[in-house]
Amino acid sequence: MKKIVVLALLGASAAAFAGRSASDPHAAAAYAKARAAGADAEQNPHSGDPASIEAGAKLFEARCTTCHGPKAKGDGPAGTALDPKPADLSDPTRWAATSVGVKHWIVLNGIDGTGMVPPGLTPDEAWLVLAYLEATYHRAR
Ligand code: HEC
Repeated sequence: MKKIVVLALLGASAAAFAGRSASDPHAAAAYAKARAAGADAEQNPHSGDPASIEAGAKLFEARCTTCHGPKAKGDGPAGTALDPKPADLSDPTRWAATSVGVKHWIVLNGIDGTGMVPPGLTPDEAWLVLAYLEATYHRAR
C-alpha cells in the first residue's frame, strides 16, 4: 500500500517536471518534425549583418514580445497563462539544443499543442528575427 502511494507521488512530480522542462513533449515533437524536413541543413543568410539585426529587433518587438517578453526571457504579459510557458529565447542551453534551422522551422510552423502558434512571419522575416536573437544573446563577445 505504502509503495503504491510513493510510486504515485513519483509519477506526479515527474509529470510536473516534464511540463516545465525545455524538453517538453510538444517541443520535442516539433524538433523531430523540423529535423525530418531537413531543417538542420539550413543556414541563416542574415547572420551577423547589422542592418538585418536591426530589422529583426523591430520584428521581435512587434511580433514576439507579447509572449516572449522584451528581453526574450519568456515573461511577456500574454505568456503568463500559457502552459508550457513561452520559451526563454535568451537561455544559452535551450538555444544550443537545436540548430538555427530547427528554430526557423518553429517560427514558421509553431509548436502543435502549445501557445507557440505560427506568428505569420515570412521565411525571410523569420531569419531576421533569429539573426537578432543570435547577435543579442548568443554570440561570444
Ligand atoms: C502567443 C504567444 C507566442 C508568441 C506571439 C510567440 N511565441 Fe514563440 N513560443 C511560445 C511558447 C508558449 C513556446 C514554448 C512551447 C513549448 O515549450 O513547447 C514558444 C517557443 C518558441 C521557440 C522554440 C524554442 C525552443 O528552442 O524550443 C521559438 C524559436 C520561438 N518560440 C520563437 C518565437 C518568435 C521568433 C516569435 C515572434 C515572431 C514568437 N516565438 C512568438 C509562445 C509564443
